[in-house]
This record gives sequence, structure tokens and C-alpha cells, in this order.
Amino acid sequence: PPYRVGYFVGSLSSASINRRLSKALLRLAPAELLFTEIEIGNLPLYNRDFDGDYPQVARDYKASIAAQEALLFVTPEYNRSIPGALKNAIDWASRPYGENVIARKATAVIGASMGAIGTAVAQQQLRSVLSFLQAPQMNAPEAYIQMRPGLIDDDGVVSDESTEAFLRGFMVSFFEYIERVLTVVPAPQ
Ligand code: FNR
Repeated sequence: PPYRVGYFVGSLSSASINRRLSKALLRLAPAELLFTEIEIGNLPLYNRDFDGDYPQVARDYKASIAAQEALLFVTPEYNRSIPGALKNAIDWASRPYGENVIARKATAVIGASMGAIGTAVAQQQLRSVLSFLQAPQMNAPEAYIQMRPGLIDDDGVVSDESTEAFLRGFMVSFFEYIERVLTVVPAPQ
């Protein structure tokens, strides 16, 4: 440690509950994790015509991912999947062929919804994409956050003690997971 963690917020909304969740996670994370937001809102729509000559915004975006040791995805669920903006950003990161910058980053996935399933379906789809891109993923704990009014404020302060403890534990687990991915630890006998 310290470890560099890039975080994606899957929502572009100015009132995003997932952005609030990301602020809470940054507040509660171990101090040995250094966070940088990987911004996705300024990327054009990807198509492979760009592969020969990525625009500067996409080069900078890929460089910002390459500089990280781990990636945290904080995403809403849109129509039982991940938002198009996040998928677009992942597609940019994965190309041109052979230059996928998400490969081998230690990753974790979390999301918030007002609904009871708390982005579970979107997270499963995101895990499938990350698997294809060869990103090791923290399998457990999972975190499906059902947001209710007042649970997390605009500064990321969590009003409920058990939710705060859960989110803190999630980030401690991610820290330990990053450490395991970056240092070769044999499986227990
Ligand atoms: C949603 N929402 C939603 N919620 C959910 O739990 N499952 C879903 O499949 C969907 N689908 C969906 C599609 C679209 C296009 C929108 C705009 C919304 C509701 C969603 O959870 C809610 O708007 C959250 O506030 C979105 O997260 P952010 O943008 O506030 O972070």
C-alpha cells in the first residue's frame, strides 16, 4: 500500500444516488486507498473506426485507467442492465484489440437503486463484461444498496449506522482483495 483505485460512477445524473454512494465509499474506505474518478461523461459513442486513431479524450481516459491498480464500479441499474454510458466507457477501455486497459485490474462492483433488488441484475451483467475483459473481481461481499430518502446525503454522510458499517466493511474487504491480487498468496492448504 497505498493502492491507486479508479472509480467509475455509472450515472451521469446531477442528482445521482450512485454518486452519493461513491462519496460515502470514499469517506469510509481505508486511508491506504487513493481514489481517482474515471470520468465517462465526456466520451463520444465508441465505434471501431476510432481504433486506428483514438481521440485525445479517449487516450486520456485510457491513460487514467492504466495508472490505477484497482477499479471500483458504482452503478445504477437501467432496464435490468448497466447504463449505456458505462458500457460505452468500458468499450472504449477495451479497444483497440490487444490494448484492453481493464485487464488484470482488481475490481469491485456495487450499486444503489430505490428498488428492492438494489442493482443486482445490472451487477451480474457487469461482472460478465469484466470477466470477458480478464479483470479479477472481488466475489464477496456483494453489495446491493436499496437507497431511501436521507440514507446518504450529498456529501456522502451515511445516516444509518448499520449501513455505514456495512459500507466500511465492503471497502476493507476490497482493500484486502486488492492486496491479494497484487501479491501472490498461495491458497490455504
Ligand atoms: C431506472 N431505474 C431502475 N431501477 C432498478 O432498480 N432497476 C431497473 O432496471 C431500472 N431501470 C431504469 C431505467 C432507466 C432508464 C432509469 C432512468 C431508471 C430507476 C433507477 O434505479 C433510479 O433512477 C436511480 O436513481 C438511478 O441511479 P442514479 O442515476 O440516481 O445514480
